[in-house]
Amino acid sequence: MSEARKKAIADSSVEETVDWWATAISDIEPGVIRMRGYPIEQLIDGAGLVDMIWMMLRGEIPSPGQAALLEKALVSAVDHGPQAPSIASARMAATCGLGLQGAVSTGVGLLGDVHGGAGQQAMTMYEEIRKALAEGEQLTAAVQRTVADYRAAGRFIPGFGHRFHPRDPRRDPLLRAVAEQRERGVVDGAYLDIAIEIEKALVTRSGKSVPMNIDGATAVIYAELGFEPELARGLFVLSRSVGILAHAWEESSQAQRIKGPLPPPLLAGYKGVGPRELSAERT
Ligand SMILES: CC(C)(COP(=O)(O)OP(=O)(O)OC[C@H]1O[C@@H](n2cnc3c(N)ncnc32)[C@H](O)[C@@H]1OP(=O)(O)O)[C@@H](O)C(=O)NCCC(=O)NCCS
Repeated sequence: MSEARKKAIADSSVEETVDWWATAISDIEPGVIRMRGYPIEQLIDGAGLVDMIWMMLRGEIPSPGQAALLEKALVSAVDHGPQAPSIASARMAATCGLGLQGAVSTGVGLLGDVHGGAGQQAMTMYEEIRKALAEGEQLTAAVQRTVADYRAAGRFIPGFGHRFHPRDPRRDPLLRAVAEQRERGVVDGAYLDIAIEIEKALVTRSGKSVPMNIDGATAVIYAELGFEPELARGLFVLSRSVGILAHAWEESSQAQRIKGPLPPPLLAGYKGVGPRELSAERT
């Protein structure tokens, strides 16, 4: 061992060493498990899973109204069927002998900027509009400016529109729940107003509306509850993991092995160079 290394070891205190992974989340000793200060025995008796999710991320137990709203967002994103790439890939992985943990991580691994990430982007957009309102801009003007900026940049507004639902069936109950919690004073409803105003401003060239989708609606909930935009994606991953697990489990309970994206005898189309002879090219 080099002298420098020996010195570094001699110089480092035990305190520095245990601080290396110091955390404000959990406190574990032999016979003791505490999270955010609460003993696990009391959490098992008195906290629900949604309370735990909130407490682990935010440090405190949520109020019943906050927990109810978070639960609705988590319930809404659990599944969107095998046509969702996260679910399809988990099912494919399950037929390849990866085991449940491999299948679930394959599905979760597909949740990124494009699939599952629009909620984070919508929250960031709502946040920017809220900042503009705090600086004195009027809601309608701020929203119209934002929509125009996205259009000018050729970008879709995150959280609005859906590939095949003319109106996302998850939109109404989610927004209704936010409105109810505003009535009860649980949230102030500012992000709800922003999102509704965007929806009003978002009309296609042919005059069709582009309703809010699940990502836009859950982003309203997460923003109203004070979560950071990055956590919108994290919470989506948590919720969708339930669906991914269920689909991976169903698929692994069936006898089919190595299921590809197309059922036989269908094959992916080919649009490359036509058949040719290698030997003819090498002479
Ligand atoms: C999901 C999405 C890809 C569907 O797009 P699509 O299949 O092209 O949707 P449609 O065919 O129904 O689009 C119809 C019209 O609405 C417009 N439109 C749809 N979503 C839009 C959006 N988010 N922002 C602006 N315009 C939108 C399209 O440009 C099109 O307008 P046009 O008729 O004037 O050309 C698109 O809405 C989108 O990218 N949304 C934002 C990202 C998002 O929220 N993803 C999560 C989906 S759950």
